[in-house]
Amino acid sequence: MITYKITKKHHHANRENFKIKKLYNSDVMDALNNITKRNSARSLVEPHPTKDEMATVFEAALRAPDHAWLKPSTFIQITGAGRNKLSDIFIQSAKELKSELSNIQITKYTEAPFRAPMIVILVSTPKDHPKVPPIEQIISTGCAGQNIMLALNAMGYGAIWRTGAFAFNKIIAKNLGLESSAEVIGYIYTGTASGNNKKIPTHDLNDYVDVWD
Ligand SMILES: Cc1cc2nc3c(=O)[nH]c(=O)nc-3n(C[C@H](O)[C@H](O)[C@H](O)COP(=O)(O)O)c2cc1C
Repeated sequence: MITYKITKKHHHANRENFKIKKLYNSDVMDALNNITKRNSARSLVEPHPTKDEMATVFEAALRAPDHAWLKPSTFIQITGAGRNKLSDIFIQSAKELKSELSNIQITKYTEAPFRAPMIVILVSTPKDHPKVPPIEQIISTGCAGQNIMLALNAMGYGAIWRTGAFAFNKIIAKNLGLESSAEVIGYIYTGTASGNNKKIPTHDLNDYVDVWD
């Protein structure tokens, strides 16, 4: 539905050549604004999405493109006391990764899950397939992650995708009880955004899009 109109052939010569025409009805604008105005939230507080809302969020996640429908993506939804369990797993994993932990690190890992009222762990478990390599399956889970972010945004919730030491790490996957081929590809922290939204960066499409016609 986005209509970039290139007005001159040699667009690199003139950086004003991309014109985005707004030709859409309000439903389409809502759908587009949900994508273009999404803003990761630094600070997240209660309330978090309800069980019914999360059912919709996971339906959106499972509509990520998925070559051969191998269904590599699964999710762990954590709220309330579940965050204490995740905290224990972070500490246990940090100890296995690095024998000496400073007090600062212990505090950081203990408190990490409490930065939001809800966390969704994105797990990708690539399957053996002659035409679909693991990287495609991990990308599919990445798309599922973005669908989660967008569904949450549409419902008015804030979210931020985080990784750090506890993503792409076999020790954390084992301590979460996942099978050996599973990868934790990220953590979506969610809840209600608090504080001021950061400014959304602007960009010049000419720097990112090459048009051949
Ligand atoms: C795979 C992935 C991992 C990320 N890991 C972190 C992270 O560990 N910590 C962090 O502050 N931001 C992380 N980010 C970036 C934020 O999620 C966010 O995109 C960034 O703060 C820019 O905000 P915006 O999404 O509103 O543009 C990650 C993003 C992606 C896609």
